[in-house]
Amino acid sequence: MQATSRVSVGTRGIILYALTAVAVTSATAPTASFGQTDAVTFTKDVAPIFQASCQTCHRDGAIAPMSLMTYEESRPWARAIKDKVSTRTMPPWYIDRNIGVQDFKYDRSLSDDQIATIVAWVDAGAPRGNPSDMPPPRQFADRDKWNVGEPDLIVPIPEPFVVAAEGANWWGDLFSDSGLTEDRWIKAVETKPSPEGFPVVHHAVTRLQESRDSDEGDFLNEYAQGKNGDVFPAGTGRLVKAGSIIRFNMHYASNGTETTDRTSVGLTFYPKGETPEHELFSRALAQNYDLDIPPGDDEVRHDSYHPFTENVRLTGYQPHLHNRGKRQCIEAILPDGTTDMLSCSNWDFGWHIVYNYADDAQPLLPKGTFLHTTTWHDNSAGNRWNPDSRNWAGFGQRSSDDMSFTWTSYYELDDEEFAAAQEERRSMTNEDN
Ligand code: HEC
Repeated sequence: MQATSRVSVGTRGIILYALTAVAVTSATAPTASFGQTDAVTFTKDVAPIFQASCQTCHRDGAIAPMSLMTYEESRPWARAIKDKVSTRTMPPWYIDRNIGVQDFKYDRSLSDDQIATIVAWVDAGAPRGNPSDMPPPRQFADRDKWNVGEPDLIVPIPEPFVVAAEGANWWGDLFSDSGLTEDRWIKAVETKPSPEGFPVVHHAVTRLQESRDSDEGDFLNEYAQGKNGDVFPAGTGRLVKAGSIIRFNMHYASNGTETTDRTSVGLTFYPKGETPEHELFSRALAQNYDLDIPPGDDEVRHDSYHPFTENVRLTGYQPHLHNRGKRQCIEAILPDGTTDMLSCSNWDFGWHIVYNYADDAQPLLPKGTFLHTTTWHDNSAGNRWNPDSRNWAGFGQRSSDDMSFTWTSYYELDDEEFAAAQEERRSMTNEDN
């Protein structure tokens, strides 16, 4: 955080949050018992971590290749588990923990202490421990249930999608007519596989478009296991225009059994005639049409910028890169010339993760701020997603082309509202210090 010591008042909340997050983690995370006589065991130390951070995906009928519900199921994977958690490949969550905002909704990452516990367990030979230490099995919500409550409108993909028992991953776009004949404001949205589809839906990203071919459109929502749909902040909403098309960007993965899915998006409306105070925008910003990615190069940097002409409260972001993507950082260049690094995250083409800032950590950016996006691409053979490291790559729509922009969710505040939001942050900083 040293680099951002010249931070303006409007962004102090970011600093605040980085500090509180650290404090909370060390207070509540289970600590590895280094130097103590009681060894780290599965039942006492590791099972609670797996319950909290792994089992939404690693259980029967979910997306991951193996279940981590019991000791018997976990033990054979001990080495792979150590590898994946210590490199922070698992759980999938690629925010840089040393830079920028650290407080997010649906954060499924492990603390350093939790990783140390798992590593110590594996290094000790992955012992079971005392069976009576085993916590009761975690209960999971019914797969029929919508986390945001029963939606007013449910729009499924056009037809059931059959995923063969064996086969390559399938990525693609499916389009459905929303059927809306009038404009409506939504206050919550959730994207969800059908109950039988959960094991094969790796992720689903939904967008609103005016037509199938349009490139413009508003981001709606991202489904990934362990995420609960989006209920927008009070007083904000997203406008769904009459005749909107819903675009489902799907990633299906075979799991050994032929499986049929019918993912749907569920929308919850504001009452007819009620307009929320603020429109929640989701926009592709700082698109770089001028990418120049030489063959073989494993670290190609590009920068792009977007000016905010209004005050904004940034509620979330998602890097948008293709196969050769490696990493993206977003920084605010404030009107007074100071800069504030907001977030950096590594990119894995297999996981399209939306990072939603916790309410009290949402960056407040005064009008005149530039969003500065820096992207790195890896066009070497070392990138497992690279279709061909011998080829130059540039901007384009095909998945063999590449891209660089930032999906952002934000709403605008007038000067008075912005001053009030800053004041609220300031008082939180004072209370906490
Ligand atoms: C959001 C879903 C999700 C969560 C949460 C998650 N995993 Fe995974 N995991 C997967 C998927 C899917 C794969 C298959 C590889 C891929 O798609 O990236 C995987 C792969 C793995 C592998 C590699 C298996 C192999 O074939 O070598 C390990 C080990 C693993 N996960 C451990 C964990 C542990 C430990 C946790 C919790 C600390 C965890 N995962 C949390 C979805 C998840």
